[in-house]
Amino acid sequence: MHKLPVVIQGGMGAGVSGWRLAQAVSRTGQLGVVSGTALDEILVRGLQDGDPGGDIRRALDAFPFREMAERIGRKYYIAGGKAAMAAYASTPPHAKDEPRERIELCLLGNFVEVFLAREGHDNPVGINYLEKLQVPHLPSMYGAMLAGVDYVLMGAGIPLQVPGVLDRLARHEAVEYTLHVTGSREGDDLAVRFDPRDYADRALAPLRRPAFLAIVSSNTLAATMLRKASGKVDGLIIETRTAGGHNAPPRGKLQLTAEGEPVYGERDAIDLARIRELGAPFWLAGGYGSAAKVREALELGATGVQVGTAFAFTRESGLREDLKQALLEKAQRHEAEIFTDPLASPTGFPFKVARLEGTCSEDAIFAARPPVCDLGFLRELYRDDDGKIAYRCPAEPLSVYVTKGGRAEDAAGRKCLCNALMANIGHQQVRCGRHVEPPLVTAGDDLTEIAGFLPAGAVSYGAVDVLEALLGGARC
Ligand SMILES: Cc1cc2nc3c(=O)[nH]c(=O)nc-3n(C[C@H](O)[C@H](O)[C@H](O)COP(=O)(O)O)c2cc1C
Repeated sequence: MHKLPVVIQGGMGAGVSGWRLAQAVSRTGQLGVVSGTALDEILVRGLQDGDPGGDIRRALDAFPFREMAERIGRKYYIAGGKAAMAAYASTPPHAKDEPRERIELCLLGNFVEVFLAREGHDNPVGINYLEKLQVPHLPSMYGAMLAGVDYVLMGAGIPLQVPGVLDRLARHEAVEYTLHVTGSREGDDLAVRFDPRDYADRALAPLRRPAFLAIVSSNTLAATMLRKASGKVDGLIIETRTAGGHNAPPRGKLQLTAEGEPVYGERDAIDLARIRELGAPFWLAGGYGSAAKVREALELGATGVQVGTAFAFTRESGLREDLKQALLEKAQRHEAEIFTDPLASPTGFPFKVARLEGTCSEDAIFAARPPVCDLGFLRELYRDDDGKIAYRCPAEPLSVYVTKGGRAEDAAGRKCLCNALMANIGHQQVRCGRHVEPPLVTAGDDLTEIAGFLPAGAVSYGAVDVLEALLGGARC
């Protein structure tokens, strides 16, 4: 393995930790991580936006299987970009039996993002996936490996199957991944399968097997990953509930504060002495975005820290400029606020939401959004009455969700994160030429501190400013 980084810039989906941010961090010798979430959709929307600068097309030119890259490039690229109020082409949501093109989009989307993050330097780059979004995992990881990804990081679930998959994909062998299907029965076929040879138009040399880091939020899960995974787990990211994005739910019955946030207790605390005893390298995440917290983590025996929020508002992040600026200004005025929403995410995990006018954090904006479910990354797989695998999302229209056997109480307060997260990075869908999907920004409790990274007199800051603040300028 490479020299281990002190700072891991955490994966931030969808597209917030895009290749520009990961490249900026990796160039300094710390670990830049691209988000692997929805890269197929980000690819096709980037091409329809005209691929300004030609980065996507340059990366597609480097893809080893030429016919596939050229065909997809031709199909989605719009010279000069689509009209601002025109809709993006719709792609079918992921499903167990995927159309071939959907798999190709995963291969290409993941390849493009990692290729661009690695371009122009020799330092390691990582990719982050959410375990819960299982269907696209296999072609996504293979696409990232074809581009030479050095680390795969995965949380939001229990990624026991992943290390073994990486071993096999490095040898271009067929792989399978067992899906979680609600209500499944013994004997049901729950596996998605992927054979690289079905997509390769020529034989390739073996690939480098990336290091695998599991993102966990409890001692039990940390130990389980090291003991029971299907292959080598090279390290652990220990993430606490102040972190941006999704958080682990509290143990036991959900209780809420007067403001409606989940209450965490003693049983949710992580015992770092027991983590140290496991003997694997580990990084601490959630509120570690300062020099003092980096020192504290190192003193606690960690190899380093994983930081997200501080990087989400850098010039290089994929977040829309207007959203970055609005939240930076709020932070400067000491008005930045985070709400840990127990309901917003269709995954059922608590999700941190930055309060911001004009986004779905406002009730009126959320209520005015038609409840369309057309991206479907977060859909739940369930066994229907005929024994087939079907799909539902608690953020889809309630009547549809209930018809599919979903419970109305499980749908209350759910928000369409798929469409909102696309809007956050400037890929907002437009419907009927007038309705524009509103964003919904996530960030950690450290949002209140981001103005501290601004150099004197500046209105924006870069990844290097964050790294200098964390490492005292010593390592950049
Ligand atoms: C905007 C944003 C999006 C995130 N998305 C993901 C994600 O897709 N996958 C993931 O494992 N973690 C995600 N995270 C968590 C980060 O990778 C990181 O662990 C966390 O931000 C560290 O805590 P901090 O926010 O206090 O720095 C996200 C964080 C932010 C701020």
